[in-house]
Amino acid sequence: MNSVTESFSHDVLLVGGGGAGLRAAIAASEVNPDLNVAVVSKVYPMRSHTVSAEGGAAAVIKADDSLDEHAYDTISGGDWMCDQDAVELFVQEAPSEMLKLEHWGCPWSREADGHVAVRPFGGMKKERTWFAADKTGFHMLHALFQTSLKYKSIIRYDEWFVTKLLVDDGRVQGVVAIELMTGKIHAITAKAVILCTGGCGKLFPFTTNANIKNGDGMALAYREGVALKDMEFVQYHPTGLPFTGILITEASRAEGGFLINKDGYRYLQDYDLGTPQPKPVLRSMELGPRDRLSQAFMKELEKKRVLNGPYGSYVHLDLRHLGEKIITTKLPFVRELCLKYENIDPVTELIPVRPVVHYMMGGVHTDIHGTTPLAGLFAAGEVACVSINGANRLGSNSLTELLVF
Ligand code: FUM
Repeated sequence: MNSVTESFSHDVLLVGGGGAGLRAAIAASEVNPDLNVAVVSKVYPMRSHTVSAEGGAAAVIKADDSLDEHAYDTISGGDWMCDQDAVELFVQEAPSEMLKLEHWGCPWSREADGHVAVRPFGGMKKERTWFAADKTGFHMLHALFQTSLKYKSIIRYDEWFVTKLLVDDGRVQGVVAIELMTGKIHAITAKAVILCTGGCGKLFPFTTNANIKNGDGMALAYREGVALKDMEFVQYHPTGLPFTGILITEASRAEGGFLINKDGYRYLQDYDLGTPQPKPVLRSMELGPRDRLSQAFMKELEKKRVLNGPYGSYVHLDLRHLGEKIITTKLPFVRELCLKYENIDPVTELIPVRPVVHYMMGGVHTDIHGTTPLAGLFAAGEVACVSINGANRLGSNSLTELLVF
């Protein structure tokens, strides 16, 4: 049997090496280069689930947009259940975080005139979703990872799995972790521990989430008596591939894709999608909030207007009218995923899709500073619930959230 054999000590310990963890490590090192910062991650950081985010990250950039409108869309999209002070802070900080990422090397897609390109996204009434084709998470994580390498004060424990928070004297004093390569168990002490472990989509059998998203951080906090908040709010993304649950990004609808039922009919025109869209309905109805689109699928199912296959009921996403050029420049990953996992080419064929568990609005209760009720313990990103997302997160707010908080 293994036992605690060595100990390691830090000022700030990040649990999780995805976008939120790396961003927080960089922030701590920028605030005070003398701080001894460590990131412990059960996977090599570039394999964190942030890497698979596709469609984009929201922040106001265009002259016709405003922080108030981003806040309004976020709050109404969250079915009025968001913490509005947190949303206000979020939309204010978002643009500078996105520019910072640009300076750190994130290759945001551009307009022909060189301006940062933004696309519309579900429930957002203005175009404010920055993107790097449809591999936004991959590029953001790269930019964050390579920036973190600049700081000698950031130490990494790659492929170490945290099993317990060490709590004494009413505060967190560090963690217990298994070094996966050797099986050794270690104590890592720290003055502050920040949970950045992502969500728990893998609790559900059909999900876009990677196998690593098991709710580890939520469980660590909960076992020490820290409340989890809003756990009943589970997000279904309307377009996953029926067998694997692989995400077909909302960007494919932002670029003009249609959802059609078994009769080839754009059924969303029959449903109330919540927030009214300023553009003509036939352009914007695929860009309603995700909860409404997933509910509309269920209504179509009840009306028996969906298709049925070996992996359940589904509808079709039609990208064919976009043409090969748009698909290969704006949605190359969608094409790659369809070819690899469904053996279909969206340039000429319909994509089968169905709602799939994608995101947890709930998580470890934090205040606007990421503080949890347990002294010394903080949380950020999907593991946390601050809450800017209320009952339904708008697509592209989560990548920005992990930068801001
Ligand atoms: O569809 C997507 O690209 C998902 C984006 C998100 O969850 O923010």
